[in-house]
Formats: sequence, C-alpha cells, structure tokens
Amino acid sequence: MTDATAALDRAAAAAKAFLAGLDTAPAAAPATLAAMRARLGGPLGAEGVPADKVIDDLIAGVEGGINGSAGGRHFAWVIGGTLPASLAADWLTSAWDQNAGLTACAPAASVVEEIAGGWLKDVLGLPASASFALVTGCQMAHATCLAAARHAVLARAGWDVAADGLFGAPPITVLANGERHASVDRALRLLGFGNCSLVALAVGDDGRVAPDTLAAALAAAPGPVIVSLAAGDLNTGACDDFAALVPLAKAAGAWVHVDGAFGLWARASARHREAVAGIELADSWASDAHKWLNTPYDCGLAFVADPVAHRAAMTVSTSYMPVAADAREAVDWTPEWSRRARGFAVYAALRELGRDGIAAMIDRCCDHAAALAHGIGALPGAELLAGPGLNQALVSFGGATDAVIARINAGGEAMFGGTTWRGRRAMRISVSSWRTTEADVARTIAAVKAVL
Ligand SMILES: Cc1ncc(COP(=O)(O)O)c(C=O)c1O
Repeated sequence: MTDATAALDRAAAAAKAFLAGLDTAPAAAPATLAAMRARLGGPLGAEGVPADKVIDDLIAGVEGGINGSAGGRHFAWVIGGTLPASLAADWLTSAWDQNAGLTACAPAASVVEEIAGGWLKDVLGLPASASFALVTGCQMAHATCLAAARHAVLARAGWDVAADGLFGAPPITVLANGERHASVDRALRLLGFGNCSLVALAVGDDGRVAPDTLAAALAAAPGPVIVSLAAGDLNTGACDDFAALVPLAKAAGAWVHVDGAFGLWARASARHREAVAGIELADSWASDAHKWLNTPYDCGLAFVADPVAHRAAMTVSTSYMPVAADAREAVDWTPEWSRRARGFAVYAALRELGRDGIAAMIDRCCDHAAALAHGIGALPGAELLAGPGLNQALVSFGGATDAVIARINAGGEAMFGGTTWRGRRAMRISVSSWRTTEADVARTIAAVKAVL
C-alpha cells in the first residue's frame, strides 16, 4: 500500500504548473506518438511502483503530448476548456470515488445531480417537468433520448418494445437533418435502427430543413416517425427552424429529438436565444456539459419531455439494489449501471458562473468566433466560407487548406481542425472555451497571417 498524499501533491503541483503555462505552451501537442511510446511503454513490471513515482513518470512521459484544449487558443473540433471550480470538483469526484448509479451508493452525488439537473433545465429554458440524465457525452445522450423516443412511438403504435423488442415491430422512420452529426446515426445503430430507416432531409443553403421538405417527408413516412433536428451544425453553427418544424412534426404524431451538443447552450444567452427559438417544444434534447459549459470530460446531457417514456426505456431493478423512496435514482434514467458522479463537476460549473456568467461565456465565444472568422477571412489567400454562426465558422485557403492548418498547428500559436463542407476543404473555427480572450484572437490571426 502506498500513501496517496505524495502522489496527489505531485499531481496538484503539475496541474497548477500546466494551467499556469497554458499561455506559453504550444496549442497543439508537438510530441510524436513514437516518442511517447518510447517514454511510457515497455513491459509491465512484476513489481509495483510507488504512487508518487508513477505520477512523476507519467508527467514526464506525456511531455509534449497534451493538446492545449484547456487553454484559449484551441479552436479545433468543439472542445471546451475546464472551469476552475468544475476541475476541482472533478478531482474530488475521483477522490470520493462514488458509484453514482444508485443513491444508496452515493447519497451526496444523488442530491447534487438532482439539483444540477434542475438548474440545467432552468438555464437552458427546457420544461421543468422534463427528466434528465448525465451521461458520458452527447453521443450517449442521443442514445438515451432516442431509446425513449423508440419506446414512445412504438407504444403509440400498440407495440411494447421493452417486452417484444424490435423484431416484428412496426418499422420506424427517422427523418433527420441531412447535415446532422454522425453521432445521431451511431446512436440509432446502437438502438437497432438500420441505416435504411434513416431518411436524410435536404437542407437549404442556410443548413436548415425547410418546412415543406419536412411536411413532404412526414406525409410519405409509412409508420411511426422520429424527427431529428440540429441546434448547432458543427461546421456552420446553423440551427433548424424549430418554431416552424416542431409543431409540424408533432401534428403528424412524430417524436422530435434535437442534437444540441453545443447549440442548446444558445438558450442561455439573451443575445443568441433567438437562433434556437421554439426548441423547447421538442420531445428530447441531447447536449454536452464538456463542450460549452466547460466541465471536464466526460459529461453529456440528455433531457426528455416525457419522463414516463424516458424511465421506461432505461429503468432497471434488482433485489440487491436498494431504492430510496425520496431519491432520484440515476439508474432509472441512464444507460449505465455503475457510473461516475459527474454531477459534482456540473454543479460546480453552474455555480461558478451563475446564469449571467454562462450567458457572458456564450456571448464571448460567439464574439471571438466572429472576430476570428472575419479577421482570418480577410487575410490574402483566405476566404470566409461559412458563418460565423454561433461559435462556429469555416475559412478556406483553397488547395492549400490542409497545409496551412498543419503549419499553423506546428507553429504552436493556435490549433485548428479541417473539414470538407459541401465539397470544399475548409478550416474550422470553433470557440468553446471560457479562457479565450481578445488577445488570444489577435495572436491567432497574427499567427495565421504569418503562415500565409
Ligand atoms: C453537433 C454535435 N453533435 C454530437 C456530437 C457528439 O458529442 P460527444 O462527443 O460529446 O459524444 C458532437 C461533437 O462531438 C457535435 O459537434
């Protein structure tokens, strides 16, 4: 047995030094995989190693292999930073080591998660009566929400999916935004929907499904229907016209699910709320805390307007699992059995920022994305392809796009990712961190200019 104190002290010191150095550290990890394998690998020894030495060696071994996503100049994918209180709460979550599947295993985690869920619905303007689940990420939030959807639309068609499964069930048609994130498709696959049950709805130049397109698809769908709409396209930030589409779908008896991995957070901002007007009318919403709320990974958010369908799709009980009468049991709402007490980090992030702080962070990220988009887009050799929409935009450097991204990233001043959007290679600009400042934006534009 080794003492935890020395290892924790080493970890805390290294974490503090890492965070203090973010401004000067490379935004993209420079180390090669081979270098890290050489430092970290080799056969596992027969003898154990003292905990503090394990941590020292780990810190040395990963040198140069950590992307600067905790910092302010990381604009690749949609990756939020980590708020200080949320990070500290996450450390405690590991120290406390609670199994948050059941209140009996984790009483405080159960209460904190219950409170955080209520605050989330409030901040995001979702019905207070909706049920929720904290899961690993938006992908599993889709799976959770779509399992509830599957349960509900089949129940309406007189089929009990919990008892009878999908074999022989009335076929469900899923009508989905044609530019949706692939995590929707994978969640559907996990739930037993083949690709053939998925109908991609054409979107306009604005990335939105037109009401006529949805109406025609609803009319053509033979049986139970789930509609999957998007709040925040990963390339352009585009959001579907929920106010027009959701009532149409509901009038046809469909369940409406929303991928709001980051876009749902527009609800928290008075300035950006309009972009997702009507989203509260949907039946389920999948989002992330690890993106725009800036909690550490891994934390996805599932919300379902009909708690009965949600619970029916997820609940499980055994004789060895005591259920507290006055508790919210996570095992009723999540696809997991044992699970991390991720409510602590969510609770801490929400409290650290408060409602105004969350709105300010959303606004700031959108402003910085716009400044980057226009600043980089105006450079010779660059073209603003799409956006800014919310916190996303695309710029192109023609045939040199991938080479320019590689050179920016190699320079260490900023990190970006690439994408192919409507047939054209582009560099994605995505701002999701509370840490990004105007100085980071100016520094990044200067770095791109130097590369060009
Ligand atoms: C729009 C959108 N939906 C879903 C996902 C999947 O989220 P997660 O990685 O948290 O599962 C992402 C990004 O990763 C995304 O950008």
